[in-house]
Amino acid sequence: MDTPKEIFLKDYKLPDYYFQTVKLNFSLGEEKTIVCSEITVFPREEAGIASPLVLDGQDLKLLSIKVNGKELKVEEYHLDSRHLTLLSLPRSTKFTLEIVTEIYPQNNTSLEGLYKSSGNFCTQCEAEGFRKITFYQDRPDIMAIYTCRIEADKTLYPVLLSNGNLIEKGDLEGGRHYAVWEDPFKKPCYLFALVAGQLESRDDTFITRSGRKVSLRIWTPAQDLAKTAHAMYSLKAAMKWDEDVFGLEYDLDLFNIVAVPDFNMGAMENKSLNIFNSKLVLASPETASDADYAAILGVIGHEYFHNWTGNRVTCRDWFQLSLKEGLTVFRDQEFSSDMGSRTVKRIADVSKLRSYQFPQDAGPMAHPVRPHSYIKMDNFYTVTVYEKGAEVVRMYKTLLGSHGFRKGMDLYFKRHDGQAVTCEDFFAAMCDANDANLSNFLSWYSQAGTPLVKVTSSYNAEARSYSLKFSQVVPPTRGQPVKEPMFIPVALGLLDSNGKDIPLSSVYHDGMLKSIEKNGEPIYTTVLQVKKKEEEFVFSDLSERPVPSLLRGFSAPVRLDSDLTDSDLFFLLAHDSDEFNRWEAGQVLARKLMLSLVADYQQNKPLVLNPKFVLGIKSILSDSSLDKEFIAKAITLPGEGEIMDLMEVADPDAVHAVRSFIRKQLAAELKAEFLKTVQNNRSSEAYVFNHSSMVRRALKNVALAYLASLEDMEFTELALHEYRSATNMTEQFAALAAIAQNPGKTRDDVLADFYSKWEHDYLVVNKWFALQAMSDIHGNVENVRNLLKHPAFDLRNPNKVYSLIGGFCGSPVNFHAKDGSGYKFLGEVVVQLDKLNPQVASRMVSAFSRWRRYDETRQKLAKGQLEMILSTNGLSENVFEIASKSLA
Ligand code: ARG
Ligand code: ZN
Repeated sequence: MDTPKEIFLKDYKLPDYYFQTVKLNFSLGEEKTIVCSEITVFPREEAGIASPLVLDGQDLKLLSIKVNGKELKVEEYHLDSRHLTLLSLPRSTKFTLEIVTEIYPQNNTSLEGLYKSSGNFCTQCEAEGFRKITFYQDRPDIMAIYTCRIEADKTLYPVLLSNGNLIEKGDLEGGRHYAVWEDPFKKPCYLFALVAGQLESRDDTFITRSGRKVSLRIWTPAQDLAKTAHAMYSLKAAMKWDEDVFGLEYDLDLFNIVAVPDFNMGAMENKSLNIFNSKLVLASPETASDADYAAILGVIGHEYFHNWTGNRVTCRDWFQLSLKEGLTVFRDQEFSSDMGSRTVKRIADVSKLRSYQFPQDAGPMAHPVRPHSYIKMDNFYTVTVYEKGAEVVRMYKTLLGSHGFRKGMDLYFKRHDGQAVTCEDFFAAMCDANDANLSNFLSWYSQAGTPLVKVTSSYNAEARSYSLKFSQVVPPTRGQPVKEPMFIPVALGLLDSNGKDIPLSSVYHDGMLKSIEKNGEPIYTTVLQVKKKEEEFVFSDLSERPVPSLLRGFSAPVRLDSDLTDSDLFFLLAHDSDEFNRWEAGQVLARKLMLSLVADYQQNKPLVLNPKFVLGIKSILSDSSLDKEFIAKAITLPGEGEIMDLMEVADPDAVHAVRSFIRKQLAAELKAEFLKTVQNNRSSEAYVFNHSSMVRRALKNVALAYLASLEDMEFTELALHEYRSATNMTEQFAALAAIAQNPGKTRDDVLADFYSKWEHDYLVVNKWFALQAMSDIHGNVENVRNLLKHPAFDLRNPNKVYSLIGGFCGSPVNFHAKDGSGYKFLGEVVVQLDKLNPQVASRMVSAFSRWRRYDETRQKLAKGQLEMILSTNGLSENVFEIASKSLA
């Protein structure tokens, strides 16, 4: 391998040439595909004349190049494995470039560029896949108008799709046919898409608020068509929501979604031709869980919302990825909140951030929301760019208010429609629309690491004042040893001794008394702007010491360390008007408890569960006035990853033992309550995807899992009964998972039964793989090795890899087995997988990246595997980047 080149944000240069129109012609075939491109090129005015034009191209066979109709001679261009450089170009204001290439989609296992999935042709171009289709300036600031002609065998590929409008189609000789598509909006090449295959569509229409009639089509193989109803519902809901909330309408007469079984990521927002991983489109009550339904709603929304945030306004360069992804994730989160429950959604999103993004931000792959450099851009489609990026957008809204945020969005579109822009442009629109000075807010884009915010409080009875002192530290990360303080919006309320919110009228800060009330109306939640290393806020006129509810709704992506006592936390758990913080109070208590039990476990002390905690859970479980969603979330313990992330040296065995101990202990002591919860939350209604049914199922499933953990005949029978009587996947799978916690014949039988029931449905089979892969059963690596050889497994299909290999890496005890068997397994798989699909291999190798967090024995074993991987011949840049940065 040539030493991979690192690309830096600071080296960004405007292109020397722009492209105006691109005419593509694909002749699709079984042995080879011929791609002709005809591009009108014009030099950037200010650029020096006659600079060479460098085109990207990879795995392409060049057949011919013409400039203004004249074939180039060999000395007029230079070709290497990555670039085609055109040396002598006309000094005119505009010229035509024609290039013919030959490609082999049927052999393309990387699933980027043009490839085949289940016999159909499809594309994935983001980030840099277009260069595997034809020679091009493959960068998002090159925006052009595309026409695409596709020709193919009519029987094998009756459906031919590309971006925009169908303007012509017809039959050709030899059983072939063609279609011509024209996209009236200029776009970067990463938004180009083509699909050809045997597909059928579910059709519907949406009338936009200005009266445009849009045809909606969701394409799948015929046998899956019945499973697209929820996706269509989600699409229509998203179109309506974007009009209502942001005033954004769809801009073409046709919107296509295609579901493909082989896809590296979740989905892709190609203009008017979204291509989806089929697991994010296909759902029926019998085969998909509530979580799947929710994910489909969110991702269909996400890709649709990209039409404005991503497509109409795109990124200048890939460092700006969060400009479209952070913003679009924020939009899909809000959409899901509005369609379901805001609190449930917020809890889920914050849990994800804590379990995955916080650890990333504290490890060797830590990078800012806008990275400074990359080797392979595909490695930066991360929880930091996406989820932390969404938190950054959320903070604008918290600081500017809903109305102010909307004004900022409106100005952003007004200024930048049709442009490729930067995160500063977004920031400027937000500030300018609101006349706001958000001073050092931009450091959220440039500084990596999760800020640690400490809060100490004191009440002065004589002065009747209450002071909150904040201090913040942003931990050092790779390449950023010293950091500036961040601009942290802290949403806050104060509770009186009855648990009621105290009206807030003013706060003393920075030597000034600032009024909080609005038009004489009291305010119960205010947003403090914490900007310095150390800062104090003082509230006055308080007749008693209040209990503070800090960081309401998780108003900033920080780690909060407050001096709240356990009794304060129990009080907040019982009374806080901010539901998120009520849940959070319970989580803080649970985290503290788990960490102290982990310490006991490590010192071989007997584990004893604090009776107050059991009582707390009991009172939540039996409080019929509480929302079921709240109960289900509040009785779920923080995940093992979250706890390990809080430890000096992560100890997977101890964390796992403690979490299992608490679960069993709770189950044993609250048997009657859990049993009642299961019984009271059965229902014979047909499956509906709505809040009340979902929280009923969720609560029942959590309770069942607790009971089954007891390995008691009675509850195994109960779980078996739930398994057999379930009429939907949510309850059937939860019962299966409950049973599968305990090794033995029942487990084996039920797993076999489930497989034989569902072997015809690859999406359900993936759940079956994942459940076994994640198991904490002792020595599970052997079982997973055997499943690699299962006839339903295929290393070339990303979903299967994510289920089996990804699932296994998520199991702390088996992946981190002290004998190194888990690491060795992953090392072997990564090497094999990298030859087929570098993007997927790279995602898998990331499981090693936090190896330094563990004890010396594990460190040595994991490091050994990373070194073995790095020494492999022909390693991809993708895996090289993650493995080498992990070792650095
Ligand atoms: N833009 C897509 C999204 O909606 C993701 C594409 C990811 N592609 C990749 N090669 N990493 O989030
Ligand atoms: Zn996206």
